[in-house]
Amino acid sequence: MSDQPAETVRLRPALENLPAYVPGRPPADDGMVRYKVSSNESPFPAVPAVREAVIASLDAAHRYPDAAAVALREALGVQHGVDPAQIALSTGSVAVTGDLVRALVGEGDEVVYAWRSFEAYPILVGAHGGSAVQVPLTARAEHDLEAMAEAITDRTRLILLCTPNNPTGPSLSTQQVEDFLERVPEDVVVAIDEAYREFHDPATVLGTAGIFRRHGNVVLLRTFSKLQGLAGLRIGYAVAHPRLARALSQVTVPFGASVPAQAAALASLRPEVQEELGRRAEQIRSERSRVVAALTAQGWELPVSQGNFVYFPLGEDSAAFAEFADARGLVLRAYGVEGVRATIAEPEANDRLIEIGASWRER
Ligand SMILES: Cc1ncc(COP(=O)(O)O)c(C=O)c1O
Repeated sequence: MSDQPAETVRLRPALENLPAYVPGRPPADDGMVRYKVSSNESPFPAVPAVREAVIASLDAAHRYPDAAAVALREALGVQHGVDPAQIALSTGSVAVTGDLVRALVGEGDEVVYAWRSFEAYPILVGAHGGSAVQVPLTARAEHDLEAMAEAITDRTRLILLCTPNNPTGPSLSTQQVEDFLERVPEDVVVAIDEAYREFHDPATVLGTAGIFRRHGNVVLLRTFSKLQGLAGLRIGYAVAHPRLARALSQVTVPFGASVPAQAAALASLRPEVQEELGRRAEQIRSERSRVVAALTAQGWELPVSQGNFVYFPLGEDSAAFAEFADARGLVLRAYGVEGVRATIAEPEANDRLIEIGASWRER
């Protein structure tokens, strides 16, 4: 295949400087029992009722999915107390975030978000010609809402709040978000990305529903990839006010949410499945507490995490720590010279993380 024709197609210049999405690495196949805790996935297999719904849905796999996803949007509308028309679905909340950028951001318009945060943000913003305004996290790895408010200009079209923040873990309180919204012009959209909401301490979790009701510029982003464990099926959604919801449906890829993804998402909203998912969330929270307590006792100082992950702010040592863990059967996610993230997963993987934390400090 060395005789490729010369390629002279004109690509958009915006693509030249886009960072590549770095996926969580798969574990090496060398016989060691390894755990991939690099992608914040669920360690649990599908809930049986969800699995059965997916299998049953395959009978209709030769048909296009319901493009309007009527049944699922109705169920989500009930869950969120909104009209089904206010639910905008796509192939994961990352895709819905891309839809938001497409609907709101023109060439040179600005999108403000904390950094470091979800690494898809710069890609989605840049790919659509927007200009990313990255506001550094505080020393405690939290959003710096004061600096984010100051970063708003006439060109700002969209602000992304990630709570709990991936990869560092801290979350925003209702009061913090309300105070921040006071400072945001009403024509600028604020998207609250709560991919990890279900892992938050329920006593202090963001009062999202009230915030949404009170502010016409707030949009909520949710995924079925994390607690619901449907990362491989790709489905997520926004809860938006009517004009924006309609705009999202205009720009999204038609028929994005597939037949099995819609079936799985719908099944996962059944009360008995919700109960099981609630137990799973509780187990992850309890494992997170156990891991954090053990690491703290070893002398680690970690940001407070409300997600299904913990973050080691290791700076220059990040790559070395990830390699150290890799050699001991744990595949982590390193972020340059900033830090390393580990997903809270099955107890055996969490035990391994605690052991690795200890041996790193003793080395
Ligand atoms: C903060 C955040 N938002 C969104 C997503 C993407 O979720 P989805 O799988 O629904 O695209 C992730 C996935 O890692 C995430 O960390």
